[in-house]
Formats: sequence, C-alpha cells, structure tokens
Amino acid sequence: MMKRTYSFLTKDVSTLHKRATGLHTEMIAKGKNWFGAALTIRNPVDAQERAIVDNYADFGSITPENAMKWESTEPSRGVFTFDGADAIRDYAATQKKQIHCHNLVWHSQLPLWVSQGKFDNATLISIMYDHIKAVAGRYKGSCTRWDVVNEALNEDGTYRSSVFYDTIGESFIPLAFKFASEIDPNAKLYYNDYNLEYNNAKTDAAARIVALVKSHGVKIQGVGFQAHLTSESTPTSAAVTPDQGVLEAALKKMTVQGVNVAYTELDVRMNTPVTPAKQAAQAEAYARVVRSCMAVEKCEGITIWGITDKYSWIPGVFIGEGSALVWDENYKPKPAYFAMLKAIQESPLAPRYYYQINDQVRDRYVRI
Ligand code: XIL
Repeated sequence: MMKRTYSFLTKDVSTLHKRATGLHTEMIAKGKNWFGAALTIRNPVDAQERAIVDNYADFGSITPENAMKWESTEPSRGVFTFDGADAIRDYAATQKKQIHCHNLVWHSQLPLWVSQGKFDNATLISIMYDHIKAVAGRYKGSCTRWDVVNEALNEDGTYRSSVFYDTIGESFIPLAFKFASEIDPNAKLYYNDYNLEYNNAKTDAAARIVALVKSHGVKIQGVGFQAHLTSESTPTSAAVTPDQGVLEAALKKMTVQGVNVAYTELDVRMNTPVTPAKQAAQAEAYARVVRSCMAVEKCEGITIWGITDKYSWIPGVFIGEGSALVWDENYKPKPAYFAMLKAIQESPLAPRYYYQINDQVRDRYVRI
C-alpha cells in the first residue's frame, strides 16, 4: 500500500484562504450583499496579501483605501489623475468584485487648493460639482456604492467645521448627493462616518442627515458605520465596542427611515502588544459587530479596513495601539476570522429583495 502523507497537517496557514466557504459567500447565503475589504494596490504587489484579498469566498467587495480620494484624483484644480483609481477598477473587474467607491466630499485628504482656496459659495459648489462629475462619471457603472459625503459631523452631533460646511452650509450635503445621483444614478449613495456605533448624539445627527437629504427630494440610500472600534479601553477611546443591542439600536435609527446601513471600515484595535486573551476579546468584538448586522434586515454588508496588520493604518494614527485587523503581520488569520465566520453562519436567513448590479459582478442580484 502506498504510504500517504497528510499534507494538511503541515500546511502553511496562508493556504487557508483557499477554502471555498468564506465570509462573503456566507453573507450572500444569508441574504446579505457583501463582505469586503479595503484595498491598497502596492508596488510591487504583496503576493501573500493579494492571495487573501483575491479569494472570492471571503471578499466580494473592495473599497479603495486611498485611491479615489480628492487628493489622489484632483490634486490641482481641473487636473485629474486616475491611474490609482483605474487600477482599483480594473482589479475589481478582473476579480468580479463589487466596488464600494470612497469618497467624493470629505474635509480630509483634500488638497490645499480646495481647503484654502477661499472660494465663494457659488464657486465652491461648482468645484464640488466638477469633481463629482469627473470622478463619479469616470467610474459610472463600476461603483456598486459611493460614499458621497464622509465625516461631516462632530462627536456632539454638530456639523464639523470644514471648507464645505463653512462656505456652503449644511446644504453642501444634499447638493453632493444630488450631483452624485445625477451623474451615477445606479450607484447606491451612502453617507459615511465614524463613532456612529454608540447610539448617541452623533448617531442621531447622522439620522438627521438622512432626513435632511430626503427633505430636499434627493436620493440617499445608505449610512456607512465606519466602525473603527476597540476591544479594550485605550488612550484614544474609553468606550469599547458596544453590546449587540446598542449596535442594533444605532443601525435601526437609520433603517427606520428606509435607508440601508453597512459597516464600511471595520477594525478593532487594542493597546499593543497583543496577547492571546486580547485576541479572544477582539474576536468577540468582531463577532458582536457581525451579529448586529445579521440581526438588522437592512444592514446589507460589512467591509474590514484592510487585510493584514502589516499595513493597517492604526499604529500610525493611534500611537501605542494596533493589532486591529483580522490577519496578523505574518498573514495568519486570527480568532476574529473564525468568530466572524461562525457569527454569519449561525445567524438567521434574511429576506431577500433583489436588485441588479453591475454586469461584471458575479453576485448579479443583491438585496435592496
Ligand atoms: C485612512 C487610510 O487607511 C490611510 O491609509 C490614510 O493615510 C488615511 O486614511 N476614515 C476614512 C478612511 O474614511 O478613508 C480613512 O482611511 C480612515 C478613517
């Protein structure tokens, strides 16, 4: 008899991404629209990271981490640079993944020619229109969704001071949605912000933005909860990932108005260094977030903000914090991966309401 070697016993964990069942396919099986990841196309490509994100079973949607932001696409007035964003579009088309396009109007990663241009109201509105026309126009038909306005709110629910708010007033928000809906009528249009997960004044203010846009007769179809969360108190966040009930209540403040919700930039950071106990707490926090989405009918998808801790934005911005993503620096899936998969699998089937999305996307019909 031939002697067999059981290769799975020694198999490198990086091959785990090849499994056929994954986060995205299980979300679809439960009536949701996607599980996704933020993507930066590196030069040269990191083959190990790429193999994980390529895996359609886990990731059916990608969000450009930086490539579609204003500073990347219109660094000087009327001068558009689309190489990075085109590469994202081409990647998604080849891989048959949805694109959660990010973003059109935001105070950050905004070139100085806009933020310090001292334009009057009418001129800034026309600059906003020209930007949306060029960027959303170029990717029309490729963007499954657009984050039209990003982070317009302060923590107390008042509007954030920005060149857009300070010059145009709150109507910069409905105007941006109006322009985006005219230019790409098929993309689902989202308002996106962080710290909406705690069901507090900022959550209420995001719900008011939905009402505001609607009051102008303008289309808004979703609110993105960025979900940059923590699994323990840290210097930058006393509050940890809320309980499932709080998360659900926050999501429902939007869905009662008829819009969808999604977790759009999920990561769960901690004080470093990581320990097994901290990884377990992190896995539970990720699972709570997933369960809250599964429990809310109009929560349509979840995107994590990157793949491996090697490239996560967290340590560079939140000093002393990290280990926030689902694969560690050595591309090994953490307990959070398996906890999320289980949370999806154990959740009830959501009712399905299908709409057709981009022809090139494999999940041809997705829930409204
Ligand atoms: C972050 C990126 O991950 C970093 O690479 C970049 O340097 C700064 O922006 N909210 C958002 C995202 O909407 O665009 C931000 O992404 C994270 C916070």
